[in-house]
Amino acid sequence: MAEREYLISLWIRVWHWINAILILVLTVTGISLHFADPNLPLVEFALSVRLHNIAGVTLIFAYLFFVIANIVSGNWWQFVPKPPGIMQRAMAQGRWYVIGIFKGEPHPHTPSKTTHFNTLQSLTYWSVMYLVMPVVIVTGLIYLYPEFAPDQLFGYDGLLPVALLHYLSAAVILLFMLSHIYLGTTGKTVGSMFKMMITGWHEH
Ligand code: HEM
Repeated sequence: MAEREYLISLWIRVWHWINAILILVLTVTGISLHFADPNLPLVEFALSVRLHNIAGVTLIFAYLFFVIANIVSGNWWQFVPKPPGIMQRAMAQGRWYVIGIFKGEPHPHTPSKTTHFNTLQSLTYWSVMYLVMPVVIVTGLIYLYPEFAPDQLFGYDGLLPVALLHYLSAAVILLFMLSHIYLGTTGKTVGSMFKMMITGWHEH
């Protein structure tokens, strides 16, 4: 097998890094807004509001681009977790992350043009991109245009479930990003997968 293979198209790499920057801006400003305290400003409140709104609206366009480009290019299929043997592959991958990697065992999955992701990656990437991102985006939009929220829901203010879902889905994305960055170091070398997301070339 060749030492390296071109796997990641330019549009995915461009989307990925724009998305990563937007999520970082949204995280820092989101934390500043949620834990707003004049004595402990991470980013000043009014500036946080502006930056959070701008990054949020830009994220909607980036996300629409991601979905449409995935459909047009057929790349969406990469994200779909595929049976049969999905449980065994997920267990083998999980075992490698927890035990095998520390014993120097070979990686159970070799990325290829037809199968970029290992089973745990496709499960998490699919869930984050197609389940959690839509929730954070739709609830963010309702927050931006609160007139679309119901006045009351189950006897509570109609914005309460919106706020709760926005906070929870954002927290899931933040936790995903932290584990994603750690797992990004588990390539051939600590930096090879980060390099791949810049150049497109995967080192086997
Ligand atoms: C500073 C933040 C981030 C860094 C350093 C980073 C790093 C990486 C690395 C090294 C990879 C390649 C490893 C792999 O294929 O699994 C990757 C792929 C990927 N990342 Fe990130 N990431 C960041 C933020 C995010 C965020 C916030 C999301 C989504 C909410 C995300 C979604 C993805 C997806 C979907 C892929 C697969 C792309 C493909 O091969 O088609 N990343 N990222």
